[in-house]
Amino acid sequence: MNIAVFVSGGGTNLQAIIDEVKFGSLTNVKIKIVIASKDDIFAIKRSKNENIPCKVISKKEYSNLIEYDKALIQALKEYNIDLVVLAGFLSRIGSEFISFYKNKIINIHPSLIPAFCGNGMYGIIPHVEVIRKGVMITGATVHFVDEDYDNGPILLQKAVRVFSSDTPQILQKRVMDEAEHVILPLSIKLISENKVKIIDGKAKIEDDDFIPYIV
Ligand code: GRF
Repeated sequence: MNIAVFVSGGGTNLQAIIDEVKFGSLTNVKIKIVIASKDDIFAIKRSKNENIPCKVISKKEYSNLIEYDKALIQALKEYNIDLVVLAGFLSRIGSEFISFYKNKIINIHPSLIPAFCGNGMYGIIPHVEVIRKGVMITGATVHFVDEDYDNGPILLQKAVRVFSSDTPQILQKRVMDEAEHVILPLSIKLISENKVKIIDGKAKIEDDDFIPYIV
């Protein structure tokens, strides 16, 4: 299965996918291209280290969302992409791209959707809010992308404990290490094995041996 990975930051989720392709469970997956939303991010170095083609496509260089979508579609055209993975990607994708890759775009969000998600909830902010609200359990969610922020069918979630001593940074790292970097590669694996179907707007895993993640 050919995938494109979209990045905007440090690329630790990209690295988790790279490592699973090289050493782990993603033996039938190939990262054909990395799309970066800006040029000064460590995720680009991670893709260069693996000789993965990388293109910077910055939304501010396009006059509108339709032109931006067209540039993204054009950039992927030659790679015959089966799945688009948003891995810490912070730019909004438009309806043209979403319908072109209908039910073939997944995103990792650093909270248990529908909590702490939606417009403005990205990066460290969900973790700041989790601590401010005093909740005991947070985690990460992989979901299919539709035209609203963090709103498409949920595929996998994994819960993580919140400790009273946590700072947002400590909590973010725990959520990334214990949840994001686990369920994103696992989601890609399930899709690569054709074990995921979207039925009545819900993602269904067709594998009796698979145990959905719980805390
Ligand atoms: C992190 O805040 C992560 O929780 C979210 O995107 C940000 C950057 O992730 N998914 P990455 O290190 O670039 O994968």
